[in-house]
Amino acid sequence: MKLFLDTADIDEIREIAGWGILSGVTTNPSLMAQAGRGDYKSVTQEICYLVQGPINAEVVSLDMDGMIAEAKEIATWSPYVIVKIPTIEEGIKSLSRIRKLEVNLKHLCEGCPKLGECDTAIDKSRNLASKQGIRTNATLIFSATQALLAMIAGASYVSTFVGRLDIAGQDGMQVIADIAQIKRNYDFHTENLIASVRHVSHLLEAAKLGADIATVPYKVIKEALVHPMTDIGLQGFLTDWAKVAPPG
Ligand code: E4P
Repeated sequence: MKLFLDTADIDEIREIAGWGILSGVTTNPSLMAQAGRGDYKSVTQEICYLVQGPINAEVVSLDMDGMIAEAKEIATWSPYVIVKIPTIEEGIKSLSRIRKLEVNLKHLCEGCPKLGECDTAIDKSRNLASKQGIRTNATLIFSATQALLAMIAGASYVSTFVGRLDIAGQDGMQVIADIAQIKRNYDFHTENLIASVRHVSHLLEAAKLGADIATVPYKVIKEALVHPMTDIGLQGFLTDWAKVAPPG
């Protein structure tokens, strides 16, 4: 399972990237607003520089032409960027068209504040972008049938909002299980991503069900690591060792 961080907060991303377990990041317009950032392009480019893995940035258009135009633009921000498209009728129409498009390599990484410092040199970026094409994440998924349509339309990822489903009294994890089953039945390459994670149990259940990716808030990643018995056990080891350790 791959772990993504669900935030647009650069400090949180820098810290968890330092743990060496982070594969990617998801953002959305609400997370950008929470981080107090309106410069979506430069924030995304900075996150790409820090993580060097899939970084999700969302369109705000509601019609197919607008979504496709935004997708073409967002895809030039970095070879690591994934374009999030809402799973509505116009979104499904966009997904199937976007997968046939190529990234405009001439403008790739233009304006990136980290250009020249990045581990991914511009030649490598161009190779990656031309090999991958424009990758998409069908977002705001609340049912397995929405995910099925997005997978048929060629989405690279499907993002199910389990926490919001649970709050609405529905079983979010069942949608993840259904998508995993559909993937097995038809060998879709779309990645089954659990989003709107609220607590550690969501992460555990998703891993048991075989979700491909969990995108997790900073707080939940921290909580997933902590156990009081680990701290007590460590303290015991240190205390006992101090009794016998050679001086100096
Ligand atoms: C991630 O891709 C989603 O945008 C995010 O997980 C939504 O989570 P929320 O329900 O906490 O807003």
